[in-house]
Amino acid sequence: MPPSQKALVPFVSVENMMRLVHAIGIETMLAELTDAIEADFVRWALFDKTPRVASHSRDGVIELMPTSDGETYSFKYVNGHPKNMGSGLQTVTAFGLLADVSTGYPVLITEMTLLTALRTAATSAMAARHLAPRDARVLALIGNGAQAEFQALAMKAVNGIDTVRLYDIDPRATEKTRRNLKNSGLRLIVCRSAEEAVEGADIITTCTADKQRATILSDNMVGAGVHINAIGGDCPGKTELHPDVLLRADTFVEYPPQTRVEGEIQQMPADYPVTELWKVIAGEAPGRREAGQITLFDSVGFAVEDFSALAYVRARLKDTGLCAMLDMIADPDDPRDLFGMLQRAQ
Ligand SMILES: NC(=O)c1ccc[n+]([C@@H]2O[C@H](COP(=O)([O-])OP(=O)(O)OC[C@H]3O[C@@H](n4cnc5c(N)ncnc54)[C@H](O)[C@@H]3O)[C@@H](O)[C@H]2O)c1
Repeated sequence: MPPSQKALVPFVSVENMMRLVHAIGIETMLAELTDAIEADFVRWALFDKTPRVASHSRDGVIELMPTSDGETYSFKYVNGHPKNMGSGLQTVTAFGLLADVSTGYPVLITEMTLLTALRTAATSAMAARHLAPRDARVLALIGNGAQAEFQALAMKAVNGIDTVRLYDIDPRATEKTRRNLKNSGLRLIVCRSAEEAVEGADIITTCTADKQRATILSDNMVGAGVHINAIGGDCPGKTELHPDVLLRADTFVEYPPQTRVEGEIQQMPADYPVTELWKVIAGEAPGRREAGQITLFDSVGFAVEDFSALAYVRARLKDTGLCAMLDMIADPDDPRDLFGMLQRAQ
């Protein structure tokens, strides 16, 4: 017997996610995702919020990121293993699920390795929309790995960036990024050091991966008026900025109980002042106040961003056929006769 309709859950494979991105257009999708995440940050109070559940090991971390707005529930499984690259594996992989709160039934399951890169870039663009200098045109992109192109394209599509200054400790990563972006319309400048990359930049994005306290940006590298988007420091013991940078910056975070443990601010005392980004977006706290201010988005990635991305994909999937139907939910004719269903299948 084929499974009933109630048994089936739409599943978006990596291949179908790539088709969806191309059907929409990557810059359009990044802009739409930015708006979707922003709309959910405005209704922040509605969401269940908890620091993600992290399982740390010597080589990396595996995390579960749940949330709900009362009608829909979501979670993401995601890992972070900086050493993976050396053996031909991704540093970050992910998949996730949306479910209907009223029945508990899943309504979508999808790959989220690509979707995480897209939503992380969209979240950076959202933060920059409120924190970066209004006329920002030049982005320094330090760390040219899997996230890099997504970050650059979101800043182009949403924030009007036209020039990207690239630097990675591994020149092959920078060459890969230059090649991938060469027809993007962005002006690309390959730099030989992080110091060179930040010269004349309005926005500095750090997206390096190293399981340690690194100093990608030191105090002398950060000029007045710059917006820093620090996405690679996202685990206990894994940071990218020298603490002196934090002493000069006004720092904006997603969810303080999570960021105090995982973000750049883990280096600072517990009373180091931060502003929750949702408050800026909802108009309850100021973003950039003056031209000379250094703003820092201490990004670690929060479950609400994944919720927004999953809900966006579900809406955009309609009538595209870009999913398979998975036989995931046991559906006996009599809901109490689960065993009978099993017995009859023999
Ligand atoms: N904040 C978030 O929401 C979020 C989401 C996804 C990934 N991340 C983090 O972003 C980082 C980048 O992720 P990825 O998937 O691009 O990783 P990746 O391993 O593909 O790329 C990281 C790049 O950083 C480079 N690098 C390492 N040390 C460096 C240094 N000192 N100076 C310059 N470059 C250096 C590496 O050569 C590599 O090319 C990771 O730390 C990841 O955990 C954060």
